[in-house]
Amino acid sequence: MARKVLITDTILRDAHQSQAATRMRLDEMLPVLDQLDEIGYYSLEAWGGATFDSCMRYLNEDPWERLRILKKHLKKTPIQMLLRGQNLLGYKHYADDVVEKFVEASIRNGVSIVRVFDALNDPRNMETAMKAIKKYGGVCEAAICYTTSPVHTTEYFVKLAKQLEDMGADNICIKDMANILLPYTAYDLVKKMKAVLKPETKIHLHTHNTAGTGDMINLKAIEAGCDIVDTALSPLGNGTSQPATEPLIATLKGTEYDTGIDINKLLPITEHFRTVAERLTKDGFLSPKVLKVDINTLVYQVPGGMLSNLISQLKQQNKSDKLIEVLQEVPRVRKDFGYPSLVTPTSQIVGTQAVLNVLNGERYKMVTKESKGLLKGEYGKLPGTPDAEVVKKIVGNEQIITHRPADDIAPEYEKYRSELDPNFITQEEDVLSYALFNQVAINFFKNRMAKEKGVDKDLASSKDRVYPV
Ligand code: CO
Repeated sequence: MARKVLITDTILRDAHQSQAATRMRLDEMLPVLDQLDEIGYYSLEAWGGATFDSCMRYLNEDPWERLRILKKHLKKTPIQMLLRGQNLLGYKHYADDVVEKFVEASIRNGVSIVRVFDALNDPRNMETAMKAIKKYGGVCEAAICYTTSPVHTTEYFVKLAKQLEDMGADNICIKDMANILLPYTAYDLVKKMKAVLKPETKIHLHTHNTAGTGDMINLKAIEAGCDIVDTALSPLGNGTSQPATEPLIATLKGTEYDTGIDINKLLPITEHFRTVAERLTKDGFLSPKVLKVDINTLVYQVPGGMLSNLISQLKQQNKSDKLIEVLQEVPRVRKDFGYPSLVTPTSQIVGTQAVLNVLNGERYKMVTKESKGLLKGEYGKLPGTPDAEVVKKIVGNEQIITHRPADDIAPEYEKYRSELDPNFITQEEDVLSYALFNQVAINFFKNRMAKEKGVDKDLASSKDRVYPV
């Protein structure tokens, strides 16, 4: 029986976040939104991740206004967003009342599907967001962050998927943020998940093409029964981004997996995004380098973004010759710390600690506040058991947290509201922007006021990169 494969296009979010520092502007999306809405995608990933930060920090755009305008044009196609559990779109844990209000506002302003994840795959860090998504009528897509370690077996991921389904997930996403998943492993994983999940629970695969395996992963996953895959239209597809959309549509056409998407309808849209990609290249945000196959991920199991961070950390200290030693130390630190997956923020914590261990000539002679916090349970439950000696050396006699970290945070929404100068508040959502990005939000509010008075500041030229999610 024919089984239509569904496609989520990431052109409006992860594609330009992965390839071009999240610098696509709303005015570059607008000309083709109505056409995108006619394609027949399962969803368009268009919000969350780093887009929120980038809007305010660099583009002088209100992220909430962007969402409302997107929604006005995308009448049939659901808007999908990426949310980092209890961290929302920021880098720390928020209180439950802020999490609930943020989810509520996202859905009210136009988001239909929320993909929620946690770096440590600790379901307790996803629980409040998942409940709120259901409460406010969104589709709850719970993601597992894919990584490899003795703890991260297929059985581990299948069990986790089942647990997330029991918590109310409508879809389960396999989030291979670093393109570490391999095609035959993907096949096995999807097959085994399908065997235990309810028939109505959809499996959604998210990978990248950094290591050149992306298309093969998607195809093998589809053969195993994967319902939805993420791709990006070709002008911003492949390389560090998602595998390109058009080749997959052509590949599946006429088969039992036919997507039903007419490739000809994509042509004018692709043509448009080609000019956007040219603009991003001209402004220095998109380098052809991101399109080349990067085998480091396959060799060292270190995500591309983490590797470039390590190289620049060592370069700053004039210790570039230590790179191989550091790359060998990374898996050892990861083992000592109970095998966290290497995604923000744990990739930075493990990477920095590995650099310190090598440069000081003694392991854990110097320890970052974040390494200590991770071992103390401040980020959530570690996937494996950390090394007892290392825990003793770093944490000492201090208390280790075994409860959900956010249980220690009192309601804080009203505190943020009262902190914020009322002159800046033009909508309730501004309080959430401020709660997440403090000074960045204040600067944005100031620019917005100036703009209303007729002074426009062009922030879009800044070349700083937004931290990848
Ligand atoms: Co991604």
